[in-house]
Amino acid sequence: MVAIQTYNLTKQFGTLTAVNSLNLAIHKGTIFGLLGPNGAGKSTLLSMLCTILNPTSGTATVNGYDILTESEKVRQSIGIVFQSISIDDRLTGRENLKFHAMLYNVPEDKIAGRIDEVLALLELSDRADDLVRTYSGGMIRRLEMARGLLHHPHILFLDEPTIGLDPQTREHIWSYIQELTRKKKGDLTVLLTTHYMDEADLLCDEVAIIDKGQIIVRDTPGNLKQDLQGEKISFNMKSPEILASLLSDNPRICKVSTESGLLEVQVIHNGNIVQEIFDIAREAGIEIDHISIHESSMHDVFLHYTGKEIRKEEDDNFTSQYRKSRRRR
Ligand SMILES: Nc1ncnc2c1ncn2[C@@H]1O[C@H](COP(=O)(O)OP(=O)(O)O)[C@@H](O)[C@H]1O
Ligand SMILES: [Mg+2]
Repeated sequence: MVAIQTYNLTKQFGTLTAVNSLNLAIHKGTIFGLLGPNGAGKSTLLSMLCTILNPTSGTATVNGYDILTESEKVRQSIGIVFQSISIDDRLTGRENLKFHAMLYNVPEDKIAGRIDEVLALLELSDRADDLVRTYSGGMIRRLEMARGLLHHPHILFLDEPTIGLDPQTREHIWSYIQELTRKKKGDLTVLLTTHYMDEADLLCDEVAIIDKGQIIVRDTPGNLKQDLQGEKISFNMKSPEILASLLSDNPRICKVSTESGLLEVQVIHNGNIVQEIFDIAREAGIEIDHISIHESSMHDVFLHYTGKEIRKEEDDNFTSQYRKSRRRR
């Protein structure tokens, strides 16, 4: 069963194409991650699916409802946790939820029960009547999630759910999200955006890497990493340059590099290349001291498909924003 399906979904801002003719199907009951650098089009995509933004062309169905012609039904069936929709910190957690329940037309006689239910789900019951001003960052994020779940949505949209939180709190939020989908037994689909590799890797059942408004690849984190497994192998030895020259025209090796005492090879297919390299080394009388096969990570996957490091991208972005703000002064 499909929870979300997009059809050539496109959003342009003037001449900029933020989301480019996207076709994506997301299965019911999964935690799906859109992984991409700043400006990739993740929030724009989410906003269109939530009917906050109109597409330039194309369309999508969310819970089987068309985002263009059945936007009201879409809205009633989804929960949204966006950075921009803020919690009022002069109210208590419970008051914030009550306000939201009224906004979403939760029936009067059900409001109190629903609030207790989501507070318990996100383990906020004992602090429910304290002012939000006294909450930690992680508690506020949990309250936002509680709010998103108040009207029993089938799909929860989370835009960068753990941005700005410390590592321990981030892991807590991940386990809440996983617990939620488990408890709802396939009736809750979570679509989240992230620029964190570990979040995509450890939280999501499936990941789509998105860049410049397009999906480059989608699969489970396990498969994505598996496909690159054994791509990079390091050999420690006394003079790596000799072996490097013997391997330079091997058709299964795409890159050879050396550092002092270290030879690194990038292989196309791992197969039994390690044995082959050992044989070549032995024939040439070269002794290999140590070998390590590089375990591929989401960082490697991202770099492989986009050709860039997400950190660098962010730094560039930060630097240019910083420069702009300096110029304005
Ligand atoms: N309201 C807008 N007007 C003009 N450009 C926008 C607007 N919203 C987003 N953009 C641009 O669209 C691109 C995608 O943005 P966004 O979806 O926010 O990316 P992400 O969430 O992946 O960081 C960026 O280049 C951004 O500057
Ligand atoms: Mg964004």
